[in-house]
Amino acid sequence: MNLFTTIAEMRAASRAARQAGRRLGFVPTMGALHEGHLSLVRAARACCDAVTASIFVNPTQFGPTEDLAKYPRSFERDRAMLEREGVDLLFAPFVEEMYPAGAVTWVTVDELSSKLDGRSRPGHFRGVTTVVSKLFHIVEPDAAFFGQKDAAQVAVIRRMVRDLNFPVEIVVCPIVREPDGLAMSSRNAYLSPTQRKQALVLHRSLARVEKLAECGERSAKQLIAAGREEFSREKLSRQELTGHERSGKDVFAEVKLDYFAIVDPDTLDPVDDISNGALVAVAALVGSTRLIDNILINRSNP
Ligand code: PAF
Repeated sequence: MNLFTTIAEMRAASRAARQAGRRLGFVPTMGALHEGHLSLVRAARACCDAVTASIFVNPTQFGPTEDLAKYPRSFERDRAMLEREGVDLLFAPFVEEMYPAGAVTWVTVDELSSKLDGRSRPGHFRGVTTVVSKLFHIVEPDAAFFGQKDAAQVAVIRRMVRDLNFPVEIVVCPIVREPDGLAMSSRNAYLSPTQRKQALVLHRSLARVEKLAECGERSAKQLIAAGREEFSREKLSRQELTGHERSGKDVFAEVKLDYFAIVDPDTLDPVDDISNGALVAVAALVGSTRLIDNILINRSNP
């Protein structure tokens, strides 16, 4: 695996691969890799001749009060994992390479960028679309691979690619879960053992909605109420904890629901009825860690 830190080197290597007639797959990441990222690499390897991955903790997608400074960084471990998965080219630029002094140009997908996570994290998707479009210009991939876990990100990137005519196919891969259902995320590393257990409420709420939908419930209002109820129960069970558990070193923190929404997966607008398919998406703070998860119902999963 060849590692590049400059745009010029990365672009030259990508172009050489494509000029040799190889279909180039691209997996953009912020590092702190887990099985979810590796599933994207495997999907890229399965349908491309060469795979480029990037590791870049993109400062512009973090808000001023978010976790940029403490975002997990594990470059050597990530690099070894990507090498083992057969990645051909790795792009790991420094911040100054991607954002030279005086850079003031942004790529913004209006409206969509202020829905779901975009509403709770103003400016987040502007940072994502700016860095992803820069990465697409540098790597010039034929196909780029993203995880369904970031469902709103997927909708925003798809729209950007369509609106700006990027010649890249967007491939969305299913969420990879821990055996108990927790969606894999680099941020799971922040959770204490107790918070790790509490975090399961996200998956439980979605599983409940999925079951009700399978039993014929079509009303988004009813389904949202059922999903939210799981969060209220979580609160109750917290109150039932013994004093010992509460005073333990493993600080018990509340789970705060950010949103539980049922929306059209492309427009991210709320739907009233799920008959034509819908994205059920949830975000919550477990302690100070923001987690997201989702399911697609009545739509074929990616
Ligand atoms: O999904 C992520 O890890 C990031 O948002 C991405 C797409 C790598 C852009 O920084």
